[in-house]
Amino acid sequence: MQLSRGESVRDTALVLSRYVHAIAVRTGPHAVLEELAEHATVPVINMLTADHHPCQALADLQTLREHFGTLEGLKLAYVGDGNNMANSLMLLGATAGMEVAVACPAELAPDADVVARSGALVTQDPAVAAAGAHALYTDVWVSMGDEEEADRRRSLLAPYRLDQALLDKARPDAIVLHCLPAHPGEEITADVLYGPRSAVWDEAENRLHAQKALLEILVAAPTPNLPASG
Ligand code: NVA
Repeated sequence: MQLSRGESVRDTALVLSRYVHAIAVRTGPHAVLEELAEHATVPVINMLTADHHPCQALADLQTLREHFGTLEGLKLAYVGDGNNMANSLMLLGATAGMEVAVACPAELAPDADVVARSGALVTQDPAVAAAGAHALYTDVWVSMGDEEEADRRRSLLAPYRLDQALLDKARPDAIVLHCLPAHPGEEITADVLYGPRSAVWDEAENRLHAQKALLEILVAAPTPNLPASG
């Protein structure tokens, strides 16, 4: 790769398209992924940008469907930073017929467009999001690229820790999800992360299966009209 010494994203897309059957990208700015997708002639998969994390959300929905047998009508409560994970869960959750509620501080709210498109509930009160939920979800408080703001984020997010008291507000059969890496004692307590309601390790395993399935669809049986990103 020559990106770091000035080769354009466009040229990178054109070259990689001659080498491989699909390009999976993990990067910061979402615009880089969009530019790659615009110029590549093979599928471009979003493996994480600052704005979206759809592959993780795919594995999360797989985990929920395995556990509850269906996705339609489930309530997912996301608590914490209104980040890439929150955006993708709102979008994929809505697509799957789920109710998604996001609890976050006003200063770290998710993308307003995504909220409008998905019809998700956004609240500053974790208890409101958790009420009646089938699953509680959280993510790191300091995402990749946000390191300089770590102290500010930790103090804004302190009331949004996923702990047993919050879990008690969800349904009695609710499960706990986390995209990892987890910081026990920070965004989630250790007793919840490693406790009987945690489906985090099934979820981690499903990253393998969901991404294999995605490649199967995109590469083994290409469908020209599938969206390239987002
Ligand atoms: N929101 C996190 C997800 C890590 C899988 C990040 O972007 O770093």
